This record gives sequence, C-alpha cells and structure tokens, in this order.
Amino acid sequence: MKRWLVRLGCILVAALVAIQFVPVQRTNPRVESDVQTSPELKAIFRRACYDCHSNETVWPWYSHIAPISFLVANDVKEGRRELNFSGWDQYNEQRKARKLKEIVEQIEENKMPQWYYILMHPDAKLSQSDKEIILKWAKQLS
Ligand code: HEC
Repeated sequence: MKRWLVRLGCILVAALVAIQFVPVQRTNPRVESDVQTSPELKAIFRRACYDCHSNETVWPWYSHIAPISFLVANDVKEGRRELNFSGWDQYNEQRKARKLKEIVEQIEENKMPQWYYILMHPDAKLSQSDKEIILKWAKQLS
C-alpha cells in the first residue's frame, strides 16, 4: 500500500513537472489606444478590469506555474476578445453601444470581476460608489 502511494506521488510530481513545459501565451500586445474616461473611472477600471480587458495585463507570479497559468492565460485571452479597453477606439459605434450594455449587465449582476480574481486581488472589489461611477458612465454613453 505504502509503495503504491509513493509511486502515485512520483507520477503526480512528474506530471506537474512535465506540464511546466507546455507553452503559455503571456503576451501584452501593443496598446493602440485607451478608453477615454475620467481619471477616477480609469483608476477603477485599471484596478478591477485591466488585467483581463486590456493589453496592460500585470501577470502575477502564479501565472507562471502550470496548471494555474493555463487558467489565467485563458481568462486574459477570452477577456480581451470580449472587451479590450486598449482597443476601445477601434470599435465602431454599434459595437461600443453593445459593449456598454454588456458592462451595465455585468456590473449590475455583480459578475465582474469574478470572485476568484477578487480572492487574489482584494483591491479589485468594487464598492457601491465604484459601481455607480461605472454605471453612470456606461448608461450616459449608450
Ligand atoms: C480575471 C479576469 C477578468 C477580470 C478581472 C474582469 N473580467 Fe470581464 N470577462 C472576463 C472573461 C474571461 C470574459 C468572457 C467570458 C465571460 O463572459 O465570463 C469576460 C467578459 C466580460 C464582458 C462581456 C460579457 C458578455 O456579455 O458576454 C464584459 C462586459 C466584462 N467582462 C466587463 C468587465 C468589467 C467592467 C470588469 C471590471 C469591473 C471585468 N470585466 C473584469 C475576465 C475578466
């Protein structure tokens, strides 16, 4: 029994070592433009959204350790695809309007930032007044 446990442990460790060699994309493409907002709102977005919704991602230490790195890189990839503040000016009016509506939904339903992100970035938690500032901006423009 004990020998099997040791073998299982060795296999697990070997697997963990092996997956470290799987390449992970952790790139920050060039910032073409940035969404124009008040400095107050920009600070909120930077604090709570930019790691996944801009080209200015701060990659944390655990984003270098598989398998967590796969999850982080995937969140950033999907997040940028859905909404990228670094490319906001390239969206046409229709697309901007749709994104603004989605932002309102995400904030009103407390879906963003995700709970697991807040766990690792406590200062990303949005206060009631943060949410009101975001909603006011998004509703005013849409
Ligand atoms: C940890 C990464 C992460 C953070 C931080 C984050 N998002 Fe997201 N966001 C995602 C991912 C991944 C998706 C796409 C998948 C999904 O909808 O869950 C997404 C989707 C969205 C969408 C599109 C939703 C739809 O209708 O499909 C909006 C709008 C959005 N996020 C806004 C925000 C705002 C605003 C913030 C900051 C207050 C924020 N997000 C913070 C990762 C993140």
